[in-house]
Amino acid sequence: MAKVKVFRCRICGDPYIGTEASTQCPFCGAERRYFVEAKDWNPNEFNVELTTVEKEDLEAALKLELDNTAFYDCAKNAAQKAGDEYDIAKFKALMKVEREHASAISKFLKISRPELEKLACSSSAKENTQEGWEREDRAIKAYSKFRDEATSLRLKEFFSVLVEIETDHLDLHAENLQQIKR
Ligand SMILES: [Fe+2]
Ligand SMILES: [Fe+2]
Repeated sequence: MAKVKVFRCRICGDPYIGTEASTQCPFCGAERRYFVEAKDWNPNEFNVELTTVEKEDLEAALKLELDNTAFYDCAKNAAQKAGDEYDIAKFKALMKVEREHASAISKFLKISRPELEKLACSSSAKENTQEGWEREDRAIKAYSKFRDEATSLRLKEFFSVLVEIETDHLDLHAENLQQIKR
């Protein structure tokens, strides 16, 4: 067996133990290239002098992420009531990733992650998948704008990675909606 090492994800900051970095961050969904070995971690990764626009955009992104976390939590509970194992797994994983995004954004804002609110959703997994698609689409549009507005390269990188991750989620919902139609 190869020896394990400690890695950290530059997008969410979370540590991970493995023989090699995971293909996707298990916490925030960032691609493998954003992992560094923990011994090489830059302690100033989340220390960005924010412009007014960057601060406003991070606050808007935080709201979006908290809202989407609450939505996926509701969708997971609805899937649990329906006893649908695939949708329980999918919505739970999405809820955890969006919650991690809210945590990462809070690091840039130097606040602790706000408490999650409860949100209503449909009892149907199909409708929740459709709403999930719409939420990811809105997030992608917002983060593309925030990326373009950011002055700091670090925030440009952060928002562009969020766009990549939310695009993965969008594609997953789209694929599931296709499967439902068939
Ligand atoms: Fe991560
Ligand atoms: Fe997200």
